[in-house]
Parts: sequence; C-alpha cells; structure tokens
Amino acid sequence: MDVGIDAIAFFGPQRYLDMADLARARGVDPAKYTRGLGQLRMAIATPCEDSVTLAANAAALALKRFDVDPQQIGTLVVGTETGIDHSKPVAVYVHEALKLRRCCRTFETKHACYGAFAGLTAASDWILSGRARGYKALIIASDIARYGVGELGEPTQGAGAVAMVVSENPRLITFDPLVTGDYTRQVMDFWRPLYSKFAFADGHYSIACYLEALAACRADALAKAADAEEYAIAKLSACFYHVPFVKMAKKAHQRHWEAELGAGVSPGDQRAQEVEASHGQRVAPWLSLNAEVGNIYTGSLFLALIDYLRHRNRTGPGLVSLFSYGSGCGAAWGFARTVPGVEGHAAALDPAAQLAARERISIEEYEEIMALVEVADRNDAAALDAGRWHVHESFLYQGTRDHVRRYSEFPG
Ligand code: CAA
Repeated sequence: MDVGIDAIAFFGPQRYLDMADLARARGVDPAKYTRGLGQLRMAIATPCEDSVTLAANAAALALKRFDVDPQQIGTLVVGTETGIDHSKPVAVYVHEALKLRRCCRTFETKHACYGAFAGLTAASDWILSGRARGYKALIIASDIARYGVGELGEPTQGAGAVAMVVSENPRLITFDPLVTGDYTRQVMDFWRPLYSKFAFADGHYSIACYLEALAACRADALAKAADAEEYAIAKLSACFYHVPFVKMAKKAHQRHWEAELGAGVSPGDQRAQEVEASHGQRVAPWLSLNAEVGNIYTGSLFLALIDYLRHRNRTGPGLVSLFSYGSGCGAAWGFARTVPGVEGHAAALDPAAQLAARERISIEEYEEIMALVEVADRNDAAALDAGRWHVHESFLYQGTRDHVRRYSEFPG
C-alpha cells in the first residue's frame, strides 16, 4: 500500500519584518542576516494570531484546494512547540473549527521542531496498519518562533503553519515506510520553560547537536536499507532538512555528504566544490519560502517541500530525503518519492499570492507586538484589537476571559 502526502498548504501571518530593518536597528551589518543566515524577511504573528488560528487556516486551505472532504479525516494531529494550554491540545480547537467528525483521534505532539514529523510517521503507521479503514489523517505543523527582542536568536524567528493530508494512494509524495532512522538525546540546546513566551537557546551548541543528530539518524535509516547505494546523494533529486535559517540547510547538506563519504570536507578540499554544486542542485532551489517566512519550527522542513513541489516541473527523478530535527533533542530521517502527475497540483499548494499580499511592519510595531505577546494570554486582559494590526483574517484569537480562550467564529 502506498501512503504519503495527498494535500498540503501553508498559512502564515500577514505581517513581516524586513531583515535589513532588523539588522540596522540592532547595529548589525544587514549582510550577516541576509547572506550569513540566508534570511530576507521574517513573518510576525500579531497577538490575535496563535498556533490555533494559524493551524486551522492552513488546514482549511489544504482541504479546500485539494478538494478533501473534512468528513474523511479520522486522525488529527497538531505538532507544535507553541502550545496555548498546559492541558488542552491546539488540535481540539482546530477539530471544532473545521467541524470534523466526533469519531476522530485528535492529539498534539511536542518535541520542538520535530513534533509534526512524529505526527506524520504515526499517521502513516495508522494507515499502513489497516486501522484507518479508508479514512485520512490531517497533520498540521503550527508554530510561532520567538526568542525575544535583542536576543541572539532574534533574526531566526518566524511564524506559520503547514497542513498536510496523509492518505493511501496520495497525489503528491509517497513515504518509504521501512528505510527510516530515529535519534534521541537529552541536550540543553534549545528549550522554553513553562513561564516563558520566549525560547532559550545555546545557539552554536544547537547547530552542533543538529549536525550530530543528522549523521546518526541517517546511519540508522541506511542500516535498514537492502542496498544503501539506492539512497546515495547522487540518486536524490532533492534533500530536505529542518530549516531554522536558510544557511543551516547548507551546513546540513555538507554533513550529509560527510556522512556518506565517511570523512570530513574542509573548504580547501577538492570535494568541497562537489558539495557546493550538490547544494546548488538539491537544496538551495527550494529554500525561497523559508527565506521569506523565517523559522516556523516544526513546519520549516515542509515549507521547503512545498517550494519543491510548486517547482516540480523543473526537477529531476523523484526520490527525496527528509531530515527533521527537534531540539532537546529528537530527530528522524526518511525518504519519499514524488507521485507521477504531481506537477498538476503546483498551483493549489503555491503560497506566492498570500506572501505577496503581506504588509511590512516597522521595528517599532514589531517591538510593540513582542511586548503585547507577553500579556495577550492573561485572563481578562484588555480586549485584543485586530484592527490595530490590520489583520483581515476572520478567525482570530480574541483574548482570554473567565479563564477561557475566546476565538471568533471560523468561516464556512
Ligand atoms: N556578512 C556575511 N556573513 C556574515 C557577516 C557579514 N557581515 N557576519 C557574519 N556572517 C556569517 C557568519 O560567518 C556565519 O556564517 P557561517 O555559519 O557560515 O560561518 C553566519 O553569518 C552567522 O554568524 P554567527 O555565527 O556569528 O551568528 P550568531 O553568533 O549571531 O548566531 C545563531 C547565529 C546561532 C543561528 C543564532 O541566531 C541563534 O542562536 N539562533 C537560534 C538557535 C538556532 O536557530 N539553532 C539552529 C540549530 S537548532 C534547530 O534547528 C532547532 C530550532 O529550530 C531552534
């Protein structure tokens, strides 16, 4: 049985901060953010947008654009680092907004940026086991990455959600269910204590943890392959990695090569040019959405996948690799194949129009939003004014009253 992604859509905030504006405000050379990190813009969620509103809007787009009947959903998983309650999952609010069936398995997964990938593999296993009985799974990655004003991680923030329908005989990509690798190690590279709206990170250490996890879970995957040569980089048309910032995918691709070669590649090496060319062919072309949106934590890997799928008509044969990394840390490695005819769905999943309609905000507005975020979840705080932020979406967080989160009516 073939199982994989049948529908996919991105939804993000309508406001963004230009990285050059941020660099100037922090007294940093803009090239550090644009070339050094590879980021051009950063999506900024207003206090009226949270992981629930982003997730529900992304899911509604995926269902509508790919003509999937919501009554066909039998499992709903929201992977998020940005929970809105210590007890209630984001997923149950999304279930209500989308009016899904009551006979639906609904839960939230959390492991920093790995949460949605974990949901995706759980959903695939559910379908492969035969328990789904023809129903589909809706997996949503929804996050708001916040490190705080003036922090080292500030230029690697972002916000957005990617919703995916997983089913039998999918229209976009099929997963290789057996050649997969896993990795877990307790490390303090990135975390967010219960009392904080902002993440703490040991930035350079987190990069080292990411790269170590990549090599380990790739090795775990290939150990299960009948012929590891079938999964060599030369056979891959694209390599997708977790993308906290665009440059990280370049470091990841180099480590991927080094793992395959069993040796390090330094800048002067003859191999370095091959790695550079491979990055230009298999990685860099699919990172334009990440550069526009910033880090969306658990959805960032899938944002690169959307970019690839929307350009499918200019790609080669369809075997691709997927690496998901969640700080803390948990990681997974997998392979997938694009389905013949996938190019016919490029328009349905392309978020270009949505991104083109975004509004640039000033540093002053951004800093005001960051201050308001601290209080937006407090009980009986002043009502949130969506008009203040020119947010046009109809499904919004309206504040917490009587200890209950209030949302506007979901359209449709
Ligand atoms: N022009 C061009 N490039 C420049 C430059 C300039 N003027 N100045 C610096 N650069 C380059 C540097 O050479 C460097 O490139 P290389 O890595 O290729 O050498 C790059 O810009 C970044 O410079 P620094 O390393 O000096 O940057 P920094 O000390 O400010 O920290 C960071 C960068 C560690 C990513 C920090 O932003 C951070 O802590 N971010 C949050 C944590 C994070 O994203 N970790 C990623 C791995 S963990 C993960 O993936 C999970 C997750 O989502 C959080």
